Amino acid sequence: MKKIIVLISGGGSNLEAIAKACQTGNIPASIELVISNQSNVKGLERAKKFHLMSKVIEHQDFNSREEFDQALLEHILPIEPDLVVLAGFMRILSNHFTDALEGKLINIHPSLLPEYPGLNTHKQAIENGDLMHGISVHYVNNKLDGGPIIAQGALKIDPVESEAKLISRVHKIEHAVYPKVIADIAKGFISLQDDEVKFETESHFGPNHMEFFNV
Ligand code: GRF
Repeated sequence: MKKIIVLISGGGSNLEAIAKACQTGNIPASIELVISNQSNVKGLERAKKFHLMSKVIEHQDFNSREEFDQALLEHILPIEPDLVVLAGFMRILSNHFTDALEGKLINIHPSLLPEYPGLNTHKQAIENGDLMHGISVHYVNNKLDGGPIIAQGALKIDPVESEAKLISRVHKIEHAVYPKVIADIAKGFISLQDDEVKFETESHFGPNHMEFFNV
């Protein structure tokens, strides 16, 4: 059984989608630990609901990004996880952290990367009058939202929809794609080799995979 650690900062709806997929066996792995850098967030309640072990490590308690990241690593590395999943984890990670977990660290970002790295992606897509928006799942390296892309999911923006509506549609895509990618990684169908994503033929995904969702 593969071991996963999930890092969150907030709502944890992606955590829930991943936990459900582990529970049903769609992801052949167990979530060994959930770490949140915020206390009192809904994601921690969700962890409890799924009987997952969780730990709050608040970044404000540390003097520097490096010290915070070191504390994270001290909780992560002894577990020897196969995969560390960033699921709405809103901290920029230091190179020391990303190097220590190279090839084992993935993120989901709410935009069609390389469009809109960083924050407020939905707002930017609406304000720019984009026709399409979506999500990207990628391996994490030391470029912010810039690691090798594993899979993308897209939707058509309705020109009159609110940002809140768009966010909720994007979430639906995230909950469909992220568990599927994690399942394929756990099965050994997707891996990172020489800074490139390698897809075995059994994978649901492949190079430049972009799925369109009617959500
Ligand atoms: C998601 O939209 C994810 O792409 C972004 O943060 C959000 C987290 O949502 N990185 P949740 O906490 O999983 O509900």
